[in-house]
Amino acid sequence: MAFMVITIDGPAGAGKGTLASRLAQIYHLKYLDTGLLYRAVAFKVSQLRKPFKKQDVVSAASSLTLKDLKNPSLREEQIGNLASEVSIYPEVRRCLLDFQRNFVQKDLSKSQGAVLDGRDIGLIVLPEAPCKIFVTASPEVRAERRLKQLHQKGIDCIYEVILEDIKLRDARDRNREISPLRPADDAFILDTSELGIEEVIEKACFFVDSKYPQAKKKAE
Ligand code: DC
Repeated sequence: MAFMVITIDGPAGAGKGTLASRLAQIYHLKYLDTGLLYRAVAFKVSQLRKPFKKQDVVSAASSLTLKDLKNPSLREEQIGNLASEVSIYPEVRRCLLDFQRNFVQKDLSKSQGAVLDGRDIGLIVLPEAPCKIFVTASPEVRAERRLKQLHQKGIDCIYEVILEDIKLRDARDRNREISPLRPADDAFILDTSELGIEEVIEKACFFVDSKYPQAKKKAE
């Protein structure tokens, strides 16, 4: 059985993380949320003087370790927005490209494969991956889901503000010069606007099984 490589790309709040972690459990894969890498760089920069310089961002990216990804503050909304800003620097993307490819190559015998989620995984980071999924949903649905998550955490938020944030982040991620958010030609497009999580998992597994018919699966 070939080492499985699954890439999951899509805009903020489309449900990439939930899908990736479920696929990791089902197929016994190691999982890297690559958004956390950009968030960790953003967090390091946020601790420095303001306004930060490009060199600050590059040195934060080149000194990144897996330990930096464990910081719970990385999930905060303003760190996500700053991550989108720092991700436009080509030098930062180059450092993180090596980090992501090394992650896949490490400890090959410990799992059946790897799943990575982000914005440019199928197109730039792992273009040879046989199994690419592009998860999407309307900005309104993504804003609703985000609002619900924040309310569950006891954080008060306004729908219109979240929607505006999502649209701004989409525009920045889609229109940047280097590695813009875009599906690879051979990606399976999975629109989750009208689907519940179990339907999303079912459709994704159907696609994964078509690419890796020999894969061993955990009973769902
Ligand atoms: O997936 P996320 O919301 O945690 O990502 C935060 C930001 O990081 C996102 O707006 C753009 C950037 N990012 C990127 O440029 N490339 C990736 N592979 C992952 C994230």
